[in-house]
Amino acid sequence: MSENEKKPLVDEREREKLLAILEDAQGKLGYLPEGFIANTAHSLGLSISEIYGVSTFYSFLSTRPLGKNVIRICKSVPCYLKNSRMIIESIQKELGITPGETTPDGRFSFELTNCIGACDKAPAMLVNDDVHGTLTPDKIPEVLRACV
Ligand code: FES
Repeated sequence: MSENEKKPLVDEREREKLLAILEDAQGKLGYLPEGFIANTAHSLGLSISEIYGVSTFYSFLSTRPLGKNVIRICKSVPCYLKNSRMIIESIQKELGITPGETTPDGRFSFELTNCIGACDKAPAMLVNDDVHGTLTPDKIPEVLRACV
């Protein structure tokens, strides 16, 4: 390795192991608290910034508490070309929050994400684990009302 090449912060095997740990914690805790990140860094011999970097890179991981219902709107090009911007605006209008925020009652968090594998139903979004596709702004209130 030349001096100009940088060693990756986390190599591929470490990254896979780390991702599994982070996904497990995200599932159990709902997000990745600072203390968890610090403890994980210590136990794996990595820096906190390495763990934090991985935690913030993947849109399905969160370093802050999320609402009961997490809405993730696809921001990738195929959905964009099918007017995902209008869906984003409709969600903002209905919930009164912007991407990256949670409603004050903790009922909804609103996130943007990369492709969720539902391009044939663009524009698409996830509500927790459920895919909603072929969205139009007028469908949004109904989808949100169905969230308990
Ligand atoms: S690009 Fe939006 S679901 Fe694939």
